[in-house]
Amino acid sequence: MSSLTSAEQNRQAPRYSGGASAGTPGKGHRKARLAILLSGRGSNMLSLVQATQSGVLQDLAEVVVVFSNKPDAPGLELAAAHGCPVASLPSQGRKREAFDAEAAELLQQYRPDFVVLAGYMRILSPAFIQPFAGRILNIHPADTHQHQGLHAYEWAFDNKLPETKITVHLVDEGLDTGPILAQEPVDLRGADTLAEVERRGLAVEHELYALALADLIQNKQNVMSSAAETSRLRE
Ligand code: GRF
Repeated sequence: MSSLTSAEQNRQAPRYSGGASAGTPGKGHRKARLAILLSGRGSNMLSLVQATQSGVLQDLAEVVVVFSNKPDAPGLELAAAHGCPVASLPSQGRKREAFDAEAAELLQQYRPDFVVLAGYMRILSPAFIQPFAGRILNIHPADTHQHQGLHAYEWAFDNKLPETKITVHLVDEGLDTGPILAQEPVDLRGADTLAEVERRGLAVEHELYALALADLIQNKQNVMSSAAETSRLRE
């Protein structure tokens, strides 16, 4: 389902080493540590949590914190109800750089391998991006080459598009400009309300995000295993 472009991955490989400390039973890799960031309802967060508990991420990743810039975000309560550690820091009234630096420092305490944006409604400044460079992912409800920023489902609906493309990408300092990791089309033919467009799109989002993360983590683990094997053979 997902279409990872390994060239993109290689160009900006995350620092997650697939390290050989405690973790994944039988595979010699520890689980990747995920920090999930949200500002709202958290349906993508929930799919990711479920994927780590009993889905495609089960042996690959664990959620070490769900963080919000809005302490009253419904997604935080949902995360806590599903057994996740939660943290928040109100962004309202704060200067972007100062808030981002403080948020990054807070998140670093959880030692995430990946920072996974799931409806985190903020433009990130270098103060946030630099500490996690190449390890921040986002999901966008359109092809990021065609539409950036907010209201992507409205854009697809208003333009009566027959299809949109859910996109998982790495985050850089631009607005939805980072390298694409995975895309999946959504058939919008016959979707005659915005709610129906969103319903179809979210169903795809909920599958694609976990699959893209699983591919990314496995790909990294395979690279590390091959490197270890090569150096073993050379000894
Ligand atoms: C999703 O449509 C996601 O693609 C976008 O923000 C929305 C978040 O929804 N970045 P939810 O909070 O995950 O339900």
